[in-house]
Amino acid sequence: MEVCRFLLDEIQFIVKRVTPCYTRLWEKEGYVRRYFIEADENTSPQVLKSFFDLRRKYIDMCKNGVTPPFCKNCYYYDPVEIPDDYDLMGNHTFKSLYISHRNTCHCKCIYCCLAGENNTEESFIQMNNEKTYNIMPIMNYLDENKLINNETTINIMGGECTEYPEEAHNIIDIGLKNNCKFRILTNGIIYDEKIADLMKNENINIVISLDSGSDEMYRRVKRVNAFDKVTNNIIKYNEAGKNNPDSRIMLKYILCPGINDKIDEIKKFKDFALNANIGCIILSIDRFWLSKNIDKQVPAKLRNAMDYFMDKTNCPDVGTTIDYGFVDKTWADKVFSMAKKDSDKCFAKLKKFFKKILSH
Ligand SMILES: C[S@@+](CC[C@H](N)C(=O)[O-])C[C@H]1O[C@@H](n2cnc3c(N)ncnc32)[C@H](O)[C@@H]1O
Ligand code: SF4
Ligand code: SF4
Repeated sequence: MEVCRFLLDEIQFIVKRVTPCYTRLWEKEGYVRRYFIEADENTSPQVLKSFFDLRRKYIDMCKNGVTPPFCKNCYYYDPVEIPDDYDLMGNHTFKSLYISHRNTCHCKCIYCCLAGENNTEESFIQMNNEKTYNIMPIMNYLDENKLINNETTINIMGGECTEYPEEAHNIIDIGLKNNCKFRILTNGIIYDEKIADLMKNENINIVISLDSGSDEMYRRVKRVNAFDKVTNNIIKYNEAGKNNPDSRIMLKYILCPGINDKIDEIKKFKDFALNANIGCIILSIDRFWLSKNIDKQVPAKLRNAMDYFMDKTNCPDVGTTIDYGFVDKTWADKVFSMAKKDSDKCFAKLKKFFKKILSH
């Protein structure tokens, strides 16, 4: 009997809640988080028990040939047979943990999905004051019960994990103890020595959304004055990982139509990536914009911007990929057709590559 493999071995921790898998949280009307378990200081780590119960319910649905409602039209659906040794009671190693249990972040990105669509001063204050749970009892439980190992990727996603370094470092220590892999999403404003050490010695991807190629555009999109700091930190992290083939930095550019979609700006970004010897750049599109415009004609300017971004001739040594994360299949197809230049094969490859990154 087939089940999506992500349902078998992922878990995501978000503010006040735990959810069964990372994808399909974003829909036309914004974040839709219908399938979750409430978590607070009193429920952690028992929340895992409720999680296992919920997961078992969804797996049973699949066994009876019924698709869980949140999986419908999901781009990432990746059916596998339930392994013979899969322990439905929960004793099964996780492949991915997504840790976003805190929203704390003092950057003010114009597009920040955590602050909500209006992104007002108040929404950022609210985002920073959001109360949540301590994840350490959960991490300790996973450690003590051997539910993470060298096949597990710990995705530390924020808010901004460098703003709660003690907790982030404790999470990393548990990961190190269990030989886990890491993927860390950070704005790069605060240089974190512990993350730099991971770059030196561990299997790690750091993802940084720079979204610009100049100080001026950085200030417009991120609404803080930190372009030089961040670009220096990117260079430092990259330097730290230069002798480690298992570490890499991925630089993201979230296209916000009408703001940072000028070719000139993207050129500066690509030049920076090339000069700084960055292995991979990621194209993304502001989800708020997408949610409002997905049914409309793609503006020529955006298509040109995407084509320019994906064109490897002006940046031959940098891998280029697309992040259309959290979108459903209709959106994914649309984004791919928006970016499609000349070769379906090339995009089929990218799709595969991106799936791999997500599941890494
Ligand atoms: C919410 S952030 C938290 C991690 C970290 N503070 C950062 O900015 O990288 C997680 C990821 O979501 C991306 N993101 C946030 N809002 C988005 C939006 N409206 N559209 C597309 N990606 C978005 C960010 O670029 C980042 O890669
Ligand atoms: S189909 Fe999508 S929503 Fe369902 S478990 Fe797989 S990745 Fe998650
Ligand atoms: S750095 Fe990340 S969490 Fe902070 S405002 Fe920007 S997108 Fe949001």
